[in-house]
Amino acid sequence: MEYRLIPLAATGILLAGISVDADDAIIQQGRQTFSTYCAPCHGPEGAGLLAPNLTDAEVLHGESLAEITKIIGEGVPARSMPPWGGVMDDATIEATAHYVMSIMDDNLPSGMVATPDTTVTPFPFGSAEEPYVLRTFMPTMGVGDEVFPHHGNGMATPKYDAKGGTFNIEKMQDPIDGVPGGVTVNFGEALSYCFDTTECRLLYTWQGGFMDMTDYWGAGQGGQRKKFGYVPTVLGNMVWRADGPAEFNGTPRFRGYRKVEGAPEFFYEIGDYQITLLVTPSDEPGVAHCYYTVTDSSGQKRSFSRFLHQNIEEDSS
Ligand code: HEC
Repeated sequence: MEYRLIPLAATGILLAGISVDADDAIIQQGRQTFSTYCAPCHGPEGAGLLAPNLTDAEVLHGESLAEITKIIGEGVPARSMPPWGGVMDDATIEATAHYVMSIMDDNLPSGMVATPDTTVTPFPFGSAEEPYVLRTFMPTMGVGDEVFPHHGNGMATPKYDAKGGTFNIEKMQDPIDGVPGGVTVNFGEALSYCFDTTECRLLYTWQGGFMDMTDYWGAGQGGQRKKFGYVPTVLGNMVWRADGPAEFNGTPRFRGYRKVEGAPEFFYEIGDYQITLLVTPSDEPGVAHCYYTVTDSSGQKRSFSRFLHQNIEEDSS
């Protein structure tokens, strides 16, 4: 036995040694793509967030490289796994598939936002005292491409094939683009807003409702996901929307947020500037009050605030 096994094992190690070196760079590349495009749904480690855990034993669509590559390229439109074929070239998709294969047996505990023992409702709602903070895919709501220069190739995200989709964005907008790294906050009916952690920029505000998460979380209590939507439905009236290029030049880097009386204060860098932003409701319903501090490379700090008044026509449909 030994005689037969040793040479076999040695061959195996040799082969593995060669291919692991080659794969490592590819897996690294795949990891980067994953954290940009896939982590918002599958979680930073692939352990699931708004979409299934990719590291556990439950595999829906196959375990081979070919099957995984196919799923990534074509998506599962009816189940709201976006098709990436139009967004990434084949090599990028394959590298991402290699990365997915590399984490498949990690068996990490699932990080689903909606787990069966929580009491998630599809209509989360906050208040001025207890703002509701959600990290999720968000619709672009008509925000123009010039606002998204750092979303790969200047595209907001993959365009979703609405024909195969299961979601329904009532009257707000169509077709639907998704912003993968949104932090969305609701202060009750008076104000909701969406901040994009990729551009480090406010995208839009609205009032009168928050979101319908049914497509993500399923109907009813308990987070039993019946189906997935690509993006939630924004409820209410749009008030303000970002447009034009960013105020600060440079690459945005999101650093996180802390909570100030329940509301997130974002920390980020754009080029040499360190910026904090806290958004709160103002006395006027729908009008957001934004407090900024901006520290430049010499350590000079200035702060200012601004109100975001209506800059969008009421939707008459
Ligand atoms: C908008 C959310 C979303 C994003 C972004 C997303 N996925 Fe998915 N993904 C899903 C959903 C939902 C499913 C489950 C589909 C189903 O139920 O059939 C899925 C399934 C998968 C599967 C199949 C899992 C299995 O069990 O067979 C793979 C592999 C996968 N995704 C990889 C990726 C990769 C790689 C990316 C980034 C390029 C990505 N996904 C981005 C939502 C997403």
